[in-house]
Amino acid sequence: MPGLMLKGADLTPRRESLEPIEIASRDEIAALQLKRLKWSLNHAYANVPHYKQAFDAASVHPDDLKTLADLAKFPFTAKDDLRRHFPFGMFAMPREQVSRVHASSGTTGKPTVVGYSKNDLDMWANVIARSLRAAGCRPGMLAQNSYGYGLFTGGIGFHYGAERLGMTVVPVSGGMTERQVKLIGDFKPDVIFVTPSYALAILDEFRAQGVDPRSSSLKIGLFGAEPWTTSMRAELEAAFNLHAIDNYGLSEVIGPGVSCECIESKDGCTIWEDHFYPEVIDPATGAVLPDGELGELVFTSLTKEAMPVIRYRTRDLSRLLPGTARSMRRMEKITGRSDDMMIIRGVNVFPSQIEEIILRDARLSPHFVIELTRSDRLDALTVVVEARPGTPEEDWAGSAHDLTRHIKNLIGVTSEIKVVKPGTVERSAGKAKRVIDLRGKN
Ligand code: DLL
Repeated sequence: MPGLMLKGADLTPRRESLEPIEIASRDEIAALQLKRLKWSLNHAYANVPHYKQAFDAASVHPDDLKTLADLAKFPFTAKDDLRRHFPFGMFAMPREQVSRVHASSGTTGKPTVVGYSKNDLDMWANVIARSLRAAGCRPGMLAQNSYGYGLFTGGIGFHYGAERLGMTVVPVSGGMTERQVKLIGDFKPDVIFVTPSYALAILDEFRAQGVDPRSSSLKIGLFGAEPWTTSMRAELEAAFNLHAIDNYGLSEVIGPGVSCECIESKDGCTIWEDHFYPEVIDPATGAVLPDGELGELVFTSLTKEAMPVIRYRTRDLSRLLPGTARSMRRMEKITGRSDDMMIIRGVNVFPSQIEEIILRDARLSPHFVIELTRSDRLDALTVVVEARPGTPEEDWAGSAHDLTRHIKNLIGVTSEIKVVKPGTVERSAGKAKRVIDLRGKN
């Protein structure tokens, strides 16, 4: 972004501060992965009845894994498998030896429960500490942790990871937005951990209080837990004058800490491949795709004790890319989840595509929600988007017209646009709900 001078532009970690495996040769990484993968398959097979049955049904045995590519012979694990064994049936150790459980929110059915042994918690804190270092954080920095504390893995996960790195943590959790802004003013954190959509709500609050967000102490934001585009990165970096760093994870695999962007390259999250083995598959056939091709991310845990996951289908769409700032591979910024994909009169549409187009129009704000309705058996897409504060009301119709045209030209679907007053679209203190599906309800 022209003219953007981000605070603390010298935050690249020193090479000596990295763990040797982060910059090891590919051969060393692959050798470690193979050793750990053998252990993980054996551990799952011996201790989790589900994996024994699934491997037996597919006529594979952990001993069949001679190379990393042999992993393709093993069956996938899906969210439904976890649900079927609710709550503790996927654990590979007696519940009494499990130190902690977390659970997904369960907005789409029964929640899924995940368990951690003492060693798992230790590994988790380490991969988050590694992520934070990659993001430019240092021991001694102050972090405002605005991810929700509780069953969600974001708050508590980041809490222990930041402490592990030697940071000072302010455990604010999500919500109470006025207080979030006040604490930033009072405590002067260097870093904030928050979902990008809640960061936007905090931004609104800064402005409502008449405080310039660019003058805050924040140098780095770790934004994750939901899809966000590179246009949103530009928006957040310009608004707060900080480095906006992507980080990815999911409860079933560990929580946050699966992968994180490096501040020196900001080119997609580096996957901590020594703990989480990635594959990208064709979601329709299950075939493993070569690096560089777009498909569904699949992860196998290499070191987890309490709840190993073998070939867990994430539903997240991405591609595997070669390492840049580290030897480990990166994942391209997630385009969306296959579950979020809307099929509008035969055209596949992701909320992130709409976000990208909205953010190109300076008259519109990043606060939007998509409504799907059906009339005469045809799907209709309505985008409700807030005008940017200061956009005169007479410009709203023009921006709505332009947005309809751009969505038609770039995505190929017809949409109705409602430009609404700033502050109308519901804010969330965690993950934003971008799509309201009213089909079948009207
Ligand atoms: O969202 C873990 C997390 C917390 C990651 C805080 C990063 C920061 P779940 O609630 O199980 O876990 O949701 C996992 O969220 O499968 C993706 O669809 C989505 N997701 C997570 N991070 C990103 C990201 C946490 N950086 C699901 N970009 C995943 C896009 C993301 N989507």
